[in-house]
Amino acid sequence: MARFTLPRDLYHGKGTLETLKTFEGKRAMVCVGGGSMKRFGFLDRAVSYLQEAGMEVQVFDGIESDPSVDTVMRGAAEMLKFQPDWIVAMGGGSPIDAAKAMWIKYEYPDITFEEMIKVFGLPKLRKKAHFCAIPSTSGTATEVTAFSVITDYEKGIKYPLADFEITPDVAIVDPDLAETMPQKLVAHTGMDAMTHAIEAYVSTANCSFTDPLAIFAITMIQKDLIPSYNGEMEKRDLMHNAQCLAGMAFSNALLGIVHSMAHKTGAAFQDYGAHIIHGAANAMYLPKVIAFNAKDETAARRYAEIADFMHLGGETVAEKIALLIAHLRSMNEALNIPQCIRHYGADGMPAEEGFVPEQVFLERLPEIASNAIADACTGSNPRQPSQEEMEKLLKCCYYDTEVDF
Ligand SMILES: NC(=O)c1ccc[n+]([C@@H]2O[C@H](COP(=O)([O-])OP(=O)(O)OC[C@H]3O[C@@H](n4cnc5c(N)ncnc54)[C@H](O)[C@@H]3O)[C@@H](O)[C@H]2O)c1
Ligand SMILES: [Zn+2]
Repeated sequence: MARFTLPRDLYHGKGTLETLKTFEGKRAMVCVGGGSMKRFGFLDRAVSYLQEAGMEVQVFDGIESDPSVDTVMRGAAEMLKFQPDWIVAMGGGSPIDAAKAMWIKYEYPDITFEEMIKVFGLPKLRKKAHFCAIPSTSGTATEVTAFSVITDYEKGIKYPLADFEITPDVAIVDPDLAETMPQKLVAHTGMDAMTHAIEAYVSTANCSFTDPLAIFAITMIQKDLIPSYNGEMEKRDLMHNAQCLAGMAFSNALLGIVHSMAHKTGAAFQDYGAHIIHGAANAMYLPKVIAFNAKDETAARRYAEIADFMHLGGETVAEKIALLIAHLRSMNEALNIPQCIRHYGADGMPAEEGFVPEQVFLERLPEIASNAIADACTGSNPRQPSQEEMEKLLKCCYYDTEVDF
């Protein structure tokens, strides 16, 4: 039985943050990240709107980027003390994802992290609280998805939690919040959204309900991302909607191995000084994975359809796929995203010498490859890679070499 699930309500457009005034409840816990929501005044506004609605409000702040299991446990403990009936998560994918995981632990205090990461295996939520998500980045679309990504820093692995139970009840997609994003964040989150839409369109779980959302998101991102990066605010606003449409698609059609590889490389080299930022990882791996997946006939046809919708030209399926790959690489170029891990430098900028040394990459490759194969996103990829193929693919992503297998 196929299922298509989205939040019950989605408020969109400039100024819709104000919708919080209409919420009904006793206590709201507002979860935010490191400070951007406070700095730009959105946190104060959200708190006062909720107070205007008659609620007692408590803030849980300081949720780090790529949130940890520890943070989730701390937040859940705060929720157990405060007993909110609304959880309002605001900010980038990180605080919203962390709040989703806290919500599970708040509703089921005895649940372990190992039980939480069982794909589509969560118990029923909403016995204690409802969940509202308000994104401030234009990429993860976690405000409409059934996913949350939590990092186990002891293992150096990102785990996707996946279940329609954690699809938020309400999403507020207010582009005002995205207008303050710095350029680099626009680039990375925008390519994350492009990857969501493309992976959803070729996923083995795609359907008539997800295809239109994925395709329309792809064409919007193609048109709007680079002008948004270059400072056009109307395009920035459109990108906020586009990423959300991509999210509606992939939450129901699932993803593929670009995400498996991004999840398993993201924190794998943190001892060498940095994360590979989620969106940048996707942007680098997507063209390589398209070449790999295109050996599957159905996937090849669907990539060619994407190229057609993007009006990229080409006569044959192979030509169209080559043009799609070239177009995505040119987007990376325009957005100042490196094409491979070897050139992935500080802050995700292109560099002659990246921060992941070749020797270290090669030493860790077999383990990263087997972790990527085991990732929850691999199951819906159109082509199932063997250990050897996954290692070769990751090497192509390191050296920027051609995928011919
Ligand atoms: N749940 C899902 O469906 C899903 C999908 C894709 C990715 N993810 C996960 O989401 C996380 C990444 O989320 P993200 O890309 O949104 O970034 P993020 O939440 O990690 O935020 C990155 C930085 O941007 C700042 N920031 C956020 N909004 C801002 C704004 N409007 N103005 C200025 N600064 C702002 C934050 O303070 C932070 O320092 C990763 O952990 C990734 O694995 C989740
Ligand atoms: Zn993503």
